[in-house]
Amino acid sequence: MSSSRIASFYRLSVEERRRKIAEALNLPSADVEALAHGDGLPLEVADAMVENAVGTFALPFGVALNFKVNGRDYVVPMVVEEPSVIAAASYAALLAREGGGFVAEADPGAMIGQIQLVNVPDPGAAVERIGAARARLLEAAEELTPGLCKRGAGPRDVEVRLVRGDDGETMVVVHVLLDTGDAMGANAVNSLVEGLAPMVEEIAGGTVCLRILSNLSDRRLARASVRVPFAALGRDGLSGAEVAERMMHAYRFAAADPYRATTHNKGIMNGVDAVALATGNDWRAIEAGAHAYACRDGRYTSLTTWRIEGEHLVGSIELPMAVSTVGPLVKSHPRVRLAFRVLGVSGARELGGIMAAAGLASNMAAMRALATEGIQKGHMSLHARSVLLAAGARGAAVEQLRKRLVAAGDVKIDRAIALLRTTEPTS
Ligand code: MEV
Repeated sequence: MSSSRIASFYRLSVEERRRKIAEALNLPSADVEALAHGDGLPLEVADAMVENAVGTFALPFGVALNFKVNGRDYVVPMVVEEPSVIAAASYAALLAREGGGFVAEADPGAMIGQIQLVNVPDPGAAVERIGAARARLLEAAEELTPGLCKRGAGPRDVEVRLVRGDDGETMVVVHVLLDTGDAMGANAVNSLVEGLAPMVEEIAGGTVCLRILSNLSDRRLARASVRVPFAALGRDGLSGAEVAERMMHAYRFAAADPYRATTHNKGIMNGVDAVALATGNDWRAIEAGAHAYACRDGRYTSLTTWRIEGEHLVGSIELPMAVSTVGPLVKSHPRVRLAFRVLGVSGARELGGIMAAAGLASNMAAMRALATEGIQKGHMSLHARSVLLAAGARGAAVEQLRKRLVAAGDVKIDRAIALLRTTEPTS
């Protein structure tokens, strides 16, 4: 696409926004118009996805604008229930453009499958035997993954670790590294470790217990960075340099304190998860991997790093990104299909890089708001619309009453109901 900037997009009606997106991305208007109907997930697909389905459940599907990643513009689909997330990411992406946008990349899809061996008579000797059998194990792993190998992916390595349990027992844990290509790869990894386990048991001795992937996908990392000129950061009477300095205080707080780091990282995951949901990815796996990675040095800390370089604020992020651009959901869920058409990525590594950029953008927006006027003013202004809808307001009344509700400084349902009554004609 030529540009992901669409001026005053938020001011348009939902229908107009759909039209603009279809135009900007050259999508068949029928695809985008389909968003008008229900939540887009046919019941029979839902029934095949999970057990005991009784219906489907809708969430807002929005687009984050202004994203430029590796010199290319992207409209980023986001599914999220929280106000401000999409606006914040779009705004940060706009600031990022002032410095050329984001630079992002992701590793090839090396997932880790674990095979746990217990009651191993001589764990040290077992480690050596597994190491010596590496080539044989890799060959067997290749035979178990012919489809992936044909596509240029497949097993990459076999590693072995000793893990000491609480009871003092030393377990032998074998890691099989599998490049799963454009798939998240949970099924491929789990089938592989289940298939390989008898051979591993024979070589190591002891008894195989668990055979399952690890969600700490630290061989499949995504990274993004951004350089924002101070000139783009000024607000509320503060210069860009002052805002950058305040944002550095915010970053140092998160880097040093796990209580703050948890919230800081939650803000990062606002962007990452919203794209994960829109693209039908397993956001719990991404969440689990991200928080474990944030703890990799033995202390929970920020997933982003920020520094000042000359007249620029420079941010970067690195986190595990086990994502997929293929698989049944991409084919069977109409909204997921549409999300991929909107995003226009060619594979999982490109998607991973964009998700890292979305996380970095969300973090930048949160830090800038928190370090200046705070987040509540902007947040309440958006939240007021939901509160008014819940109170029964409809149509033009929502916008009129929103301003009054925010001005009253009490964005609560009781106040919204009271305000609504004042506008109702009395008989
Ligand atoms: C809210 O969803 C996210 C923030 O709390 C993130 C942060 O504190 O950095 C605003």
